[in-house]
Amino acid sequence: MDPIGQNLIKLITNVCFSVFVFSVLIFTVIAITYQPPDPWESSRALTRVFTQFENATFQIDTTLLKTGEDLATSAAPPANANPNAVTESIIEKSEAQLTNLTLKSGCEDISAVNCSDPQVLIAIERFNLKALKSIVFLEYQTPVSGLRLDECDVAWRFRNKKEKSWRKYRDFRRFRIGYRENCTYKVLNAKGWHSGTNARRPRTTVNNANRSGENAKVAPPFHDDEINDTIPVLGSDMAFRQGKYLYYSRGGDYCKGMNHYLWSFLCALGEAQYLNRTFVVDLSICLSAAYTAGNKDEEGKDFRFYFDFEHLKEVGSIVEEGEFHRDWKNWDKTHKKKIPVKKVASYKVTPMQLGKDKSTIIWRQFDAPEPENYWYRVCEGQAAKYVQRPWHALWKSKRLMNIVSDISGHMDWDFDAVHVVRGDKAQNKELWPHLDDDTSPDALVTKLQGMIQPHRNLYVATNEPFYNYFDKLRSHYNVHLLDDYKELWGNTSEWYNEMRLLNGGRPVDFDGYMRVEVDTEVLYRAKTQVETFYNLTDDCKDGISTC
Ligand SMILES: *[C@@H]1O[C@H](CO)[C@@H](O)[C@H](O)[C@H]1NC(C)=O
Ligand SMILES: *[C@@H]1O[C@H](CO)[C@@H](O)[C@H](O)[C@H]1NC(C)=O
Ligand SMILES: *[C@@H]1O[C@H](CO)[C@@H](O)[C@H](O)[C@H]1NC(C)=O
Ligand SMILES: *[C@@H]1O[C@H](CO)[C@@H](O)[C@H](O)[C@H]1NC(C)=O
Ligand SMILES: *[C@@H]1O[C@H](CO)[C@@H](O)[C@H](O)[C@H]1NC(C)=O
Ligand SMILES: *[C@@H]1O[C@H](CO)[C@@H](O)[C@H](O)[C@H]1NC(C)=O
Ligand SMILES: *[C@@H]1O[C@H](CO)[C@@H](O)[C@H](O)[C@H]1NC(C)=O
Ligand SMILES: *[C@@H]1O[C@H](CO)[C@@H](O)[C@H](O)[C@H]1NC(C)=O
Ligand SMILES: *[C@@H]1O[C@H](CO)[C@@H](O)[C@H](O)[C@H]1NC(C)=O
Repeated sequence: MDPIGQNLIKLITNVCFSVFVFSVLIFTVIAITYQPPDPWESSRALTRVFTQFENATFQIDTTLLKTGEDLATSAAPPANANPNAVTESIIEKSEAQLTNLTLKSGCEDISAVNCSDPQVLIAIERFNLKALKSIVFLEYQTPVSGLRLDECDVAWRFRNKKEKSWRKYRDFRRFRIGYRENCTYKVLNAKGWHSGTNARRPRTTVNNANRSGENAKVAPPFHDDEINDTIPVLGSDMAFRQGKYLYYSRGGDYCKGMNHYLWSFLCALGEAQYLNRTFVVDLSICLSAAYTAGNKDEEGKDFRFYFDFEHLKEVGSIVEEGEFHRDWKNWDKTHKKKIPVKKVASYKVTPMQLGKDKSTIIWRQFDAPEPENYWYRVCEGQAAKYVQRPWHALWKSKRLMNIVSDISGHMDWDFDAVHVVRGDKAQNKELWPHLDDDTSPDALVTKLQGMIQPHRNLYVATNEPFYNYFDKLRSHYNVHLLDDYKELWGNTSEWYNEMRLLNGGRPVDFDGYMRVEVDTEVLYRAKTQVETFYNLTDDCKDGISTC
């Protein structure tokens, strides 16, 4: 063959090979950088930070936390699709039924009101619909007498239209009832959040019978008996044996920041879902020093302090670690044939490789040194294509949400909010050169005046620890800070009592992470929301030149 032909063939082979190598490269890059959509605004930054390992979690926004109930993808229907919602048309229907039965009463006695007259409830329902527009009213209870003869107390359940979860909250208010000229009822005025104390549900505890003695004592702690976050038990040996489990040993994630914890926890839960296995949940959490009063890591926190375990039980297949260990030990003790366990030493074994494994327990061990021992590394690379983080499974603790309802209810849901990020970021002039100045008291006054009407209720969600930092805003707005609501977690509060019960009788601190959760949710209920980044400052959220 002539040399030119040979060279030509060589050239063609080389070109072909290069194209092949190049396309493999491209494919790999795509595979590595592909991330399934997920709701954390800064999830890309998060992935970046987490894969750089150095200073992991340093740059992530730790002052807010989005969870499943904040996400549009949650399975909540629009407000008008809720079958229980008390709407104008529902009120009209019940009114039509009544007018056929009862004749006009004729206002014989206008000094006293019969609170159990159904027409009273109808007047109150109408009044509420007009007054509290951001609320979906669900069930009303029959009104009872208030303090005065013309007052009625009513309790109802509601949902905030901005919350995507199904959870219901309770309010009870006091109404003063009067008559129109044609002798129909009308509401003259209404008192605020939780004012209708006579309508508060009687306690279901032992003391219930003696209601006369009750008033003399301090008001009994109101107990949210809709919360059921008890630890489920499997019950029988066979039930345990028939299950398939995914068990993660503690890894390097323990005592890291909460964002890191969530990122890892949801990866693990996602893998369990992908493998159709029950995930073994360790309810014991270590709270990172960043969120504790003593600035030291604190072990022995309970998952249920922060998150809704009841919801997790409902939507995910899970078993609590203690129960799991008990059942496992019990089986191995009482049976000759031990439970088949597959131990997985490295995160490099992918979920896809484990798909065919028939062992009852798959046990990922995470013994490698950091950062090889982070749970979330299981979801990196190719696995990210198959394993989805189940964000919808994670809601905030209902007990914390009761505090959120309380705060926003005190403002009748008619408030604006500003999120002021300070703390470490404001100190770090290298990454956030203008943040400190742009969130200074004077700058806040100037900037907010362009965005929020004077004298409005203004909730400030912030990690600025100095309470009086926002005093300059007070001459322009009715300023509310989380610390204004201290009594909601103080030692006489419902929250305090319930947390102590949950914690085996020991009191629980209202820690930095709980503050973040409550701040986040109150912020999201505001009518106008002003963010730090891109509203107050032009600095980038994740540090200089990241936007
Ligand atoms: C990590 O953060 C510290 C400040 O906490 C900073 O001094 C250091 O330069 C950072 N390292 C990297 C690699 O960004
Ligand atoms: C009420 O009376 C009207 C006519 O007076 C009738 O059309 C309607 O069906 C009645 N409603 C009920 C619930 O009885
Ligand atoms: C109040 O109204 C209810 C329902 O209409 C009725 O059953 C009750 O007898 C009334 N009570 C008084 C004191 O009038
Ligand atoms: C009573 O008067 C109000 C307006 O003042 C009106 O909306 C309502 O329909 C009247 N009700 C009856 C039963 O006449
Ligand atoms: C209720 O309290 C009174 C005294 O305050 C007592 O005499 C009575 O036995 C109590 N009743 C019940 C059912 O506990
Ligand atoms: C709470 O939930 C568990 C299942 O997780 C159930 O077995 C138990 O009966 C429930 N308790 C109440 C009071 O509803
Ligand atoms: C999990 O179950 C679903 C539906 O039953 C099935 O399509 C899927 O292949 C299963 N996944 C694995 C890894 O076994
Ligand atoms: C509650 O806290 C206050 C001070 O914060 C203290 O004086 C009081 O004794 C505490 N009460 C209880 C029941 O612990
Ligand atoms: C804050 O900035 C966002 C994005 O630039 C904008 O859509 C929003 O309207 C701003 N909010 C206010 C209150 O001006």
